[in-house]
Amino acid sequence: MSYNNIISKENNGITTITINRPKKLNALNRETIQELHEAFSEADSDIDTKVIIVTGSGEKAFVAGADISEFSDFDVNQGTELASKGQELLFNFVENLSTPVIAAVNGFALGGGLELAMAAHFRVASHNAKLGLPEVSLGVIPGYGGTQRLPQLVGKGRAMEMIMTGGMIDANQALSYGLVNYVTTQDELLPLCEKIGVKISKNSTVAISAAIRAINANFKDGVDGFNVEIQEFGNCFGTDDFEEGTTAFLQKRKADFPGR
Ligand code: COA
Repeated sequence: MSYNNIISKENNGITTITINRPKKLNALNRETIQELHEAFSEADSDIDTKVIIVTGSGEKAFVAGADISEFSDFDVNQGTELASKGQELLFNFVENLSTPVIAAVNGFALGGGLELAMAAHFRVASHNAKLGLPEVSLGVIPGYGGTQRLPQLVGKGRAMEMIMTGGMIDANQALSYGLVNYVTTQDELLPLCEKIGVKISKNSTVAISAAIRAINANFKDGVDGFNVEIQEFGNCFGTDDFEEGTTAFLQKRKADFPGR
């Protein structure tokens, strides 16, 4: 499929989705959000794709936020609709994908950009990355899950400070907060994400999807995550991947998972 604002390429089991509006620091306009939805959806149902990496084009920005020019004249209803549609199409959608998503944060990750990185399953940053939720400086609050996912990842006090000040933290501070898992050079960012991706892709995709559902259950209101884990654990026993994984171990060979 061809897109106007993103590039999606599969190579060796890894699909890399690059947000490609460098002149606008990859800001998320409506069309880009729709295209990201389609690209994530396509990659998730692609049998060859074991891992998805999402990144921004150029050397300056991952994503500098939602496109401010598109919503500056919105009223209350349009604002509510903007957040609700965006969460459904992209942010919640990414978090709940069956395929692991790694955010390669290659520069500014602000507002919707940090929210997209936080919706990914984990994050790796380059040294020049700057992360923040500056929405209150615009008279609005984060609307793509930022008030929920930031405290989950860094704790309530740090999230309160970041959101109230609207300030940016650098890559090393993000590392010390646990917001990103690694910090590396710009040149090494994608290779490092791909290296982690290859490691993931050797494991059972079926079991990984079950693990994503069980981990996410921990953060869902009214859901007993331990119970979800029990059900997902049990279901694994009925899969071909489980049979192959345990048989390979007992036969002292590497597993060759049939997958989904
Ligand atoms: N929405 C729309 N356009 C954006 C944007 C956004 N979130 N972020 C950057 N851009 C555009 C700028 O308007 C500018 O476009 P122009 O060249 O047509 O004027 C272009 O991207 C380059 O940005 P610029 O501000 O000139 O770069 P800079 O290096 O001086 O500053 C930032 C970089 C990230 C600090 C600054 O762009 C910024 O503060 N962006 C908004 C961040 C934000 O508030 N995000 C949350 C939105 S809810």
